[in-house]
Amino acid sequence: MDLKSLKQKISTLKSESSALINSSNDKGSLEKTYKSYLGKSGEVNLLLKSLGSLPQEKRKEAGMLLNQLKSDIDNSYKDKTSELSKAENELRLGNQKIDISLPSASKADGSLHPVTQTINEISDFFESIGFGIESGPETETDYYNFEALNVPEDHPAKDMHDTFYLKESGLLRTHTSPVQIRTMENKNPPHRIICPGKVFRKDSDLTHTPMFHQIEGLVVEEGASFAQLKGLLNDFLEDFFGREVELRFRPSYFPFTEPSAEVDIKWNKSWLEVLGCGMVHPNVLEMVGVDAKKYSGFAFGLGVERMAMLKYDIPDLRLFFENDYRFLKQF
Ligand code: FA5
Ligand code: MG
Repeated sequence: MDLKSLKQKISTLKSESSALINSSNDKGSLEKTYKSYLGKSGEVNLLLKSLGSLPQEKRKEAGMLLNQLKSDIDNSYKDKTSELSKAENELRLGNQKIDISLPSASKADGSLHPVTQTINEISDFFESIGFGIESGPETETDYYNFEALNVPEDHPAKDMHDTFYLKESGLLRTHTSPVQIRTMENKNPPHRIICPGKVFRKDSDLTHTPMFHQIEGLVVEEGASFAQLKGLLNDFLEDFFGREVELRFRPSYFPFTEPSAEVDIKWNKSWLEVLGCGMVHPNVLEMVGVDAKKYSGFAFGLGVERMAMLKYDIPDLRLFFENDYRFLKQF
């Protein structure tokens, strides 16, 4: 073959391929046409192989012409491909109809856990009358959980708490009362705070779980009295239950309060204890450096699950922690 006939062949291939590519109606036939020119044994490759038969000085020009042909075919192939894709898309969109009158697939909403809801509700009440919110660690030292609360080493009251002790040192706090100590250590009186949080005890039955929530309350100011404590708790309980509940203050004992009481609420024809309270023991005030002659204080610690149980009429406190969706979705 000589250069002249090669040039002729190239020009024929160029117009022929362009016509075939442009008339392809679908990607299948386009692909076939493309391969017949640029495939392994396509026309262009065959010509490339024949370059060797040209005289040395013509090969460079012939090579350039063939490369040009290659990129021309490539370009028309690419243009056609995107044209066909566009047409396919338009056809698909045209066939799709959206029926906006159909009802949407329903989704289940999440909600706050009833214990969280109860904590929020109780916190809202106390915040609305000027209480601040404090918190403390869930792992405590013996000092904060017991000693600073007037429970010395070997005191029998320690047994009432069924404490989980940690391997190395310390314990899981058995009540939120250590936060009283931490608060009084950090700031000067007067104090009006509540402190919600998790507490832990070796306990499990209808009305006890090994982890539960308490909300501690502490008021320290000049002239704080048991009458104020009783009035505050009455107001709070009435607000929380939204009705008058049958309740009783029952004399009790805590090493860190004197006098002490517990509050029970009528439940299933018997009494359910919801909180402990009392006047902060002068020893406790002295221990954190509060002048017990000037200031007095009262405190309470209530069981959040017990409150929620009574409010929502739940027969077994352990239901709060089984995370059964059928139970939780009712809140
Ligand atoms: C205390 O924990 C005292 N720190 C409360 C206190 C604070 C008294 C400040 C005086 C001043 P008690 O052990 O009674 O007290 O627990 C308080 C409340 O937590 C109980 O009334 C009850 O409502 C709840 N409670 C106790 N143990 C459990 C348990 N295992 N599961 C669920 N709730 C519990
Ligand atoms: Mg008790």
